[in-house]
Amino acid sequence: HTYVIIMAGGVGTRFWPFSRTSYPKQFHDVLGTGRTLLQQTADRFDGVCPSENIYIVTSSLYKDLCQQQLPQLTDDQVLCEPIARNTAPCIAYACYKIAQRDPEANIIVAPADHIILKEDEFKRTIQTALDATKAQNILVTLGIQPSRPDTGYGYIQYIPEAGKTGPLRVKTFTEKPHLELAQQFVESGEFVWNAGIFVWNVKSIINAFESYLPEVAEIFEEGNNAYYSEREKAFVAKAYSLTGSISIDNGVMEKADNVYVVLSDFGWSDLGTWKSLYEVSDKNDDFNVIDGHILLYDTKNCIIKTPKDRLVVVNGLDGYIVAEYDNVLMICRKEEEQKVKAFVADAKERG
Ligand code: GDD
Ligand code: MG
Repeated sequence: HTYVIIMAGGVGTRFWPFSRTSYPKQFHDVLGTGRTLLQQTADRFDGVCPSENIYIVTSSLYKDLCQQQLPQLTDDQVLCEPIARNTAPCIAYACYKIAQRDPEANIIVAPADHIILKEDEFKRTIQTALDATKAQNILVTLGIQPSRPDTGYGYIQYIPEAGKTGPLRVKTFTEKPHLELAQQFVESGEFVWNAGIFVWNVKSIINAFESYLPEVAEIFEEGNNAYYSEREKAFVAKAYSLTGSISIDNGVMEKADNVYVVLSDFGWSDLGTWKSLYEVSDKNDDFNVIDGHILLYDTKNCIIKTPKDRLVVVNGLDGYIVAEYDNVLMICRKEEEQKVKAFVADAKERG
């Protein structure tokens, strides 16, 4: 009864120009391991559930990419969204569909764009969560020890219990707090980051949708006689034209009173930005991360990722991102990487 939903519909704007609307980061081999982030995500569940129990939810634009990268998946396992409506509708679509197939389903929801270094520890953590959600009406999330007041994450305050390895009761869940709040959270030592990986049984998540996002529940529950049939596409087109855009974190996790967290340490990183890739990558003696055909002089603390078929010579840079992909070259101070979103918007405007 174990199922996996992989969310793979984001466009990864902050990773531009490497991540593009036409080819987002989850479809790239970001770390140069030979497997893309999506493939690594699916590989991670080997032995956790059979491959026919894995569902990918993505934009219809990426259906072919998903199937090229994961040829073991049938058409029915790649759920296509006509428009992106953030993670709550994405999860609702897949959960109501799985409910139709298996009312006893125990479900893991995972983003397609994270890296996890300690795979065995990850599997153990997932098993702890699955054991708990099999018979209990709880929503489990995985918590990561925070290392900085990052405002891009959800913060979870939990009730500590000495010696307990199982899920701990969550007191508060705050999605993407502003900086001062994030600083307070980290300093207090009572909070962990939400890894964005969730575990629950299908009845619990459907209960949660009914309680906290009844409009979403109503839309996707109506698919009951369309899921796993010819009518699914038409149903989904209608559902997405009706549903609003909301994340599972804002829509459910912040509101629910049956949230638990499993404290985790499996070498997790959300490869959300250039800096996060810099942090997890191997560095040379001058703290540069380089990937490409590159000659460096008097350069340190940089991340440089350029196509291998052209020589790039860099002299005298400190703390920069130099990234070239397709027809775009971006050079930006690492400390100002939050501007990338604005670059993308401007670049779109100019065509
Ligand atoms: N199918 C589909 N449709 N997938 C989506 C959509 C959508 O509309 N929007 C986002 N996704 C996918 C992304 O590709 C990613 O894999 C995952 O869902 C999470 O979305 P993000 O947009 O990356 O969320 P986030 O990083 O801002 O925040 C979430 O993750 C953090 C940890 O990385 C939250 O859960 C935070 O609480 C958490 O700390
Ligand atoms: Mg993310």
